[in-house]
Order: sequence, then structure tokens, then C-alpha cells
Amino acid sequence: MHYLITGHTGFKGAWLSLLLKQQGHQVSGISLAPEPGALFEVAGLDADLEHDIRLDIRDAAATAKAVQHVSPEVVFHLAAQPLVRESYLEPRLTFETNVMGTLNVIEAVANTDSVKAHVVITTDKVYKNVNRVEGYKEDESLGGDDPYSSSKAMADIMTQSWIKSFPGIPTAIARAGNVIGGGDVSKDRLLVDLLQSFSQGVPTSIRYPDAVRPWQHVLDCVNGYVALADELLAGGGLGEWNFGPAPESFVSVRSIADAASKLWGDEASWIDESSGNHLHEAGLLALDSSKSEAQLNWRNKLKFDDSLAWTIAWKKRLLLGENARDVTVSQIKNFISIP
Ligand SMILES: NC(=O)c1ccc[n+]([C@@H]2O[C@H](COP(=O)([O-])OP(=O)(O)OC[C@H]3O[C@@H](n4cnc5c(N)ncnc54)[C@H](O)[C@@H]3O)[C@@H](O)[C@H]2O)c1
Repeated sequence: MHYLITGHTGFKGAWLSLLLKQQGHQVSGISLAPEPGALFEVAGLDADLEHDIRLDIRDAAATAKAVQHVSPEVVFHLAAQPLVRESYLEPRLTFETNVMGTLNVIEAVANTDSVKAHVVITTDKVYKNVNRVEGYKEDESLGGDDPYSSSKAMADIMTQSWIKSFPGIPTAIARAGNVIGGGDVSKDRLLVDLLQSFSQGVPTSIRYPDAVRPWQHVLDCVNGYVALADELLAGGGLGEWNFGPAPESFVSVRSIADAASKLWGDEASWIDESSGNHLHEAGLLALDSSKSEAQLNWRNKLKFDDSLAWTIAWKKRLLLGENARDVTVSQIKNFISIP
């Protein structure tokens, strides 16, 4: 099967590409250039791809041409401006990329005869945040206070409208939350900042130590995307799907920082900066994934402790001189072997 991933040079896209390659598929990608030191780059992923295309999805004509040229059977749309704090600095770029960019991809897919399934990636942040402890279900209201969340909610609602208005290519929406794993180089992500400062031997500052987040290993998340595409190919799966971690993985930023410091060793530590004047970020975000568990037979294979341990092991193995690609592939093989 030939898969096209938009955003394949990003964190999730690179893990998804390597997972699909391990499963014996062909993979192509459309993205901007990778960030320096990104997993795509350090794992030499370009060598695995049928087509490795650099373009801006805000360009509708170029996107349409590229999707037709690749002629994939399945499309995963991940390309986005995915950072909340960046969205305050660059609101126009965020809306143009996440909303109109998504429309450009959806239209391009609709005009490409080879495509049999399309999965559009949004986020847990699409839900109207009412600090619910028990988790949001797929049919609950969407909203979004910051530009990132609202842009993704707009993309989500637009995709829902497209599914109902133009029922051609089977299309689904995947919503997942914070993911962790080796090779993330994004700004302003907790574990990225922690591991970076641990490896430099300096403490990192934490803005919201009491914010509770769902933590999930990137492999469990992208495995959910693949399960959803399989369901579309089998004739079901239309609409919205949550892929969150189990309730035991809803953990405060403080707890994950403490656990990561302990696992790292070498007197690693962090600084509580909660008194500073920071931009608004959503508090509790919890997902109810019972629909995906029941209907897609999907579940998280890695518990919270394993997810954290695998992420730290990835970084430590690289620091000890192992090759990024070998470490990533060995973790993917271990993941696949978990029943
Ligand atoms: N990482 C998380 O914790 C998380 C949580 C929830 C949802 N998501 C969603 O998952 C998806 C992937 O996130 P990620 O963490 O891998 O992000 P990332 O920043 O690592 O990767 C983003 C990718 O999108 C591409 N991209 C950005 N703007 C583009 C443009 N204008 N044209 C073409 N390509 C463009 C980049 O080149 C890159 O390949 C996003 O849709 C994001 O909103 C991520």
C-alpha cells in the first residue's frame, strides 16, 4: 500500500513513516524542510521515501499537483503549525496553514482518483475546554481560546462538513493529545526542553507545573492513525475518533518532570517558574477514547512509565553513540511485538 504523509519531516510524521516502512508499505511525503536535528534528518528518512516533496500547503495549486503526482492510496494529513505559543506570535500563519492548508489538502485528495482513505489529524485541543476530569467524547462541543486550538477546531469542523457535503473519498478525523518519544525537536514542549537541559547539565524552567496533561508515546498515537486508515479501507471509520492515553497517564507536569529527572539520574533537576506572567495555555485536557477501543480494536500498548522510559532511553542511547535510525527502528520493532 502506498501512503502519503503531509508533515512527514515533523516529529509524528517521521515516526509514522518509519512504522509504515517496518510494516512493509511504500511511503511518500509533502512538507517543509525538517528542523535541524529532527528525527527525519538524523534517521536519514529521505532514503526510504518514494517521493520526498518540499512545498507549502498554503499553495493550493502546488499541493493539488503534488498529491496527483504521488497518486497515493492512503493520505495522512499531519502538516500544521502545531505550537500554542507560536500561534500567539504568528496567528495569521497558524490559521492559514492549519485551516486553508487543510482545505487545500482535502481538495487535492478529492481530485486524486487513486486515494481510497484520508485521515486528517487534529488534536485534543479542539474540544471546548470546560476542565472536565472524565474526558471528552467525540460528539462534544468544539472550541478553542488560543489561535492554535481554534485553528485546529476550524480545520476539524471544516473536515466534518466536507465528509457530509462531499462524500467521495472516505475521510476520518483523528484527535490525540500530547505525545512524547525520541527525536522531537519542537520548541516549548516539556520533555524536549527537559531532556535538552538534562543533557547539558543545566536545570530547565517550567511554566505550568500543576497543569495536568495526557501523556502518550508517539507510537501509540500513530498506531491509532493507522488503525483508523485500516477501518476506512475496510468500509467503516468515517467521522471523528479520539486516541488518548489511559487515565493513569493523566499526569501533572510536575510529576513528569520529577519522574524524568529521576530516570535520567546525574542529579538532573528543574525550576518551578509558575509565578511568571505567561500566555494562556489550556489547563486539564482529557480524552475519552472508548469509541476507538471498542470499534477499532485500538488500545495504548505502552503505559505512562514505559512511554517516559522509552523516550529517555532513546536520547541516552544516542548520547552513548548509537545511530538514531537503529534506535528508532528497534523501538518500533519492540512496539510491534507487544501483543
Ligand atoms: N506533538 C504533539 O504533542 C501533538 C499533539 C496533538 C496534535 N498534534 C498534531 O499532530 C500533527 C503533527 O505534529 P508534530 O508534533 O509532528 O509537529 P512538527 O512541528 O514536528 O511537524 C510539523 C510538520 O508540518 C510541516 N508543515 C508545517 N507547516 C507547513 C506548511 N505550511 N506546508 C507544508 N508543511 C508544513 C512541517 O514541515 C513538519 O513536517 C499536527 O497536525 C499537530 O497539530 C501534535
